[in-house]
Amino acid sequence: MKTYSIALIPGDGIGRDVTQSAWQVLTAAAGHAGFALEETTFPWSCAYYKRTGAMMPEDGIDILRAFDAILLGAVGWPAEVPDSVSLHGLLLPIRKAFVQYANIRPHRLLPGVQGPLKTEAFDILCIRENTEGEYSGAGGRVHQGTLDEVAVETSIFTRAGVERILRFGFEQARARRGKLASVTKSNAQKYSMVFWDEITRKVAADYPDVEVTSYHIDAMAARMVMAPESLDVVVASNLFGDILTDLGAAIQGGLGFAASANINPDRTAPSMFEPVHGSAPDIAHLGIANPIAAIWSGAMMLDHLGERAAAASIMAAIEGATARGIGTRPGKDTTETITGAVLAAFG
Ligand code: IPM
Ligand code: MN
Repeated sequence: MKTYSIALIPGDGIGRDVTQSAWQVLTAAAGHAGFALEETTFPWSCAYYKRTGAMMPEDGIDILRAFDAILLGAVGWPAEVPDSVSLHGLLLPIRKAFVQYANIRPHRLLPGVQGPLKTEAFDILCIRENTEGEYSGAGGRVHQGTLDEVAVETSIFTRAGVERILRFGFEQARARRGKLASVTKSNAQKYSMVFWDEITRKVAADYPDVEVTSYHIDAMAARMVMAPESLDVVVASNLFGDILTDLGAAIQGGLGFAASANINPDRTAPSMFEPVHGSAPDIAHLGIANPIAAIWSGAMMLDHLGERAAAASIMAAIEGATARGIGTRPGKDTTETITGAVLAAFG
């Protein structure tokens, strides 16, 4: 039987709750479709940091490289470990080391879910650059703690990095409704963002069938609220994409529905799948976290692995559950109830 080896990193807080749900659904769907998923769970987290002084072992990246894919819950427990330490010790290095340059985040309403907007007819695919830009980590602080202190953090945009994410976005647009929105702030940031706009125009020449529009990030934020139905694929830099996808999560009814895939399109290393939401310490292990975002991310993982039918069956199972009113509002149903309702499709 075809078997995929999956690295599970449940991480912190509700990351552990929702990863368990997603894994139950994934294995059920795999069983139905006639393939197997073999899991190895890694305890890398803030608790692990407290024990060992690191978020993952020194050879953590080498260990993960052997897997077909990584399923991650959430990372962060700011009361114990500063976020700037925990995220730079686990999530962000994985994205970079495995060249997962495309962070794909779908924003649409599941059946039965009421968003905050009047319109329900939107289906946006945000493509976030995931390895450079504002998250490059280039910078430093001098004269720390004195009145003369200086902090510098520089965005790094490379031609290769910008071109490949735009190309990826154009390919997605071509496979969808043929529209691409490229997001910058080139009216204010005259080097990197003008550079991004130029590359957008250059790559667009190779995709005459795709309708491309450049937007400034502020206008895009308004458009996602006022006219989300006008958008198809939205491509943005690392930080802009981060912000827009929390907005996308909000218009789709909340973070509990927002899935994401950190993709290495060249398949030179494993890709990683994780909900957009964080570890939510306030509701950790209360059994009330919505696992739909994690389960949907798991479906994206199966799709990436080539198991299209199984991925589609999970989406249908999620949609069946929400159409029956289960898991449609934050706090309405328990993690177990929602997981059970999705699992019922594979019963
Ligand atoms: C996300 C998260 C991360 C990010 C944080 C936790 C570093 O907000 O995946 O959207 O900004 O990329
Ligand atoms: Mn985010």
